[in-house]
Amino acid sequence: MQKAIIDDISPIADGVAALTLRGTTGPLAPWEPGAHIDVTLPNWLTRQYSLCGEPGSAGYRIAVRRERLSRGGSEYVHDHLRPGKVLDISAPRNTFPLLPAPEYLFVAGGIGITPVLPMLRAAAASGATTTLAFAGRSTPFADELRRAHGERVRFGRPDLPALAAALDPAALVYCCGPEPMLAEAEEVFPADRLHVERFRPRARTFEPDTAFEAVCARSGRTVPVEADESLLDALRFAGLPVAPGCREGVCGSCELRYLDGRPEHRDEIGAAEGRIYPCVSRSLSPRLTLDL
Ligand code: FES
Repeated sequence: MQKAIIDDISPIADGVAALTLRGTTGPLAPWEPGAHIDVTLPNWLTRQYSLCGEPGSAGYRIAVRRERLSRGGSEYVHDHLRPGKVLDISAPRNTFPLLPAPEYLFVAGGIGITPVLPMLRAAAASGATTTLAFAGRSTPFADELRRAHGERVRFGRPDLPALAAALDPAALVYCCGPEPMLAEAEEVFPADRLHVERFRPRARTFEPDTAFEAVCARSGRTVPVEADESLLDALRFAGLPVAPGCREGVCGSCELRYLDGRPEHRDEIGAAEGRIYPCVSRSLSPRLTLDL
C-alpha cells in the first residue's frame, strides 16, 4: 500500500474527471504503460484505475468516468474527493503490458483510452508505427492526443474489419473499451496478436459451482471451499493472506500460484501458466494445491 495525496481534480470530458496524485512521503512506486492501481476510497470501496500519466514522473494520473449505474465508486470520486485528500492506493500492477513490436494498432472506446494513452506514447517513442482508433460519446484527453500524435489518431467509430484486413503481419493490436467493441475486436483480429483489457467481466456461463478443497502447500492448511462461496472468500475466512480487489476477475490483485489440480479459470485477464485468480476461478478437481 502507498499513501497518495490528491493534487488536482479537473473535468477533462463529459462526465470524466482526471486526478493527479503524489506520494505523501516521496515518489510513488514506478510503473509501466498498461498498469493500474487499486484506490481505496474513504467510503471503503476499492476501485481499479489505469495509470494514464507519464511513467517515470513522481506522481500518478488517473481518470474516472461517472458511471450512470454507479455502485458507489465513481459517484464518490466525483462528488466527494477534493484536492488535499489522502488516499490509500496499491502498488501498480500490470495485466495489460505493452509487448515489443514494429507496429501497433490501438483501439479505444471512451474511458478505455486511459491504459492506451501511456502505451501509445511509449510505442511512438520506441520508433514503432502507431495508429489509434478512438471512439466514444465522450473522448477524454482528445486534445492531448491530437497535440502529441496528430493524424495518427483517428476519431469516430472504427471499421474494425477494415482495420483487420489492412493489419501489418507484424503489428500488435491493443484494445480497451466497451464490451461490444472488445467482442468485435476478438472476432476480427488474430487472437495471437490481440490484447484486450476489460474493466468489467463478460456475461458468461460456467459449469455449476461445486465444493472442493484448497490445499495450501506452504502453510500446511487444507481449506474447504463450499459450492456457494468463492475460493478467495474461503481462503480469507481461514485467515490466509490473499489480497481482494475487484472480485470480478479483472484486476489481478488476488493472483495466486497453484501447484496441482485442475483449475477452472473464469477470469478476464488470461491467467498465465500456473496462476489462478481465486475471486472467480474454482477447481474442477476435488483438491487444488496452492502455493500459499
Ligand atoms: S480480485 Fe480482482 S482479479 Fe481477483
